[in-house]
Amino acid sequence: MLTKMKTFLPEDHLWQNQIIWYDVIDSTNNQAKKLIQQGAPHGTVLIADHQTGGRGRLGRSFVSPAGVGVYMSVILRLPQQADQLMHLTCAAAVAACSAVEKAAGFRPGIKWTNDLVYGGRKLAGILTELVITPTETAAIIGIGINCSQTEADFPEDIQSFAGSLAMVCDHSVDRAQVAAALIESFSEMADHLGNKQEILDAYRPDCITLGKQISIVTAGDIRHGIAIGIDDNGALLVEFPDKHIEAVNAGEVSVRGIYGYAN
Ligand code: BTN
Repeated sequence: MLTKMKTFLPEDHLWQNQIIWYDVIDSTNNQAKKLIQQGAPHGTVLIADHQTGGRGRLGRSFVSPAGVGVYMSVILRLPQQADQLMHLTCAAAVAACSAVEKAAGFRPGIKWTNDLVYGGRKLAGILTELVITPTETAAIIGIGINCSQTEADFPEDIQSFAGSLAMVCDHSVDRAQVAAALIESFSEMADHLGNKQEILDAYRPDCITLGKQISIVTAGDIRHGIAIGIDDNGALLVEFPDKHIEAVNAGEVSVRGIYGYAN
């Protein structure tokens, strides 16, 4: 898979020689944190065939069986301070949509803030984490994409809303091609992170949450409103029944469509 993936990347791609393959690992994001401490350079890519402890947002797990998905983390060493990187997850989501479009021939939508969806099913999730030191910010962009599962391959509790690229395309999608497209897309994204407004302008049309009635779930509380916009930091603007508007940040809440996971 690694060798094949490299053939899909331009030979002179700056990250070609910084790709590390793991047959099995707990989590590529965990391993990326270790490599950051050891001085791994900007553009180090970790990719695994199988994760035993794949992690998602809000402490959830990300099911990562062998042979059927792409589980990847990219290390970025960035000049920006953490408070100037609120749009990083949005940037990664748009980049991931472009990569899927290139490799699989269709463009998924984004369920705010970081799930790639199609036909009401989640195809991929992104977990962005920052490692902050006094001198720099290192970011980890972790992405898991379901490539070739059928509905029956998913655990029962997520079967109704999990999907794969193959389920959308009706034919198999080459994991190596998906992984190479992701690397190209993320490296391009990393070069343009200073263009915050352009990134958010690209994010808004991909975001399927906008215009929908949603439920905002925090520990012990559910509120309902309409998603009316994305602000200049990537927060979701929600209008509540009493017409007041709040900017909701991704770190705090889970957002669901009221008619299902993404609807
Ligand atoms: C989510 O769905 O909330 C995010 C899922 C992110 C999963 C990817 S798989 C590669 C990387 N390693 C992890 O442990 N998580 C991310």
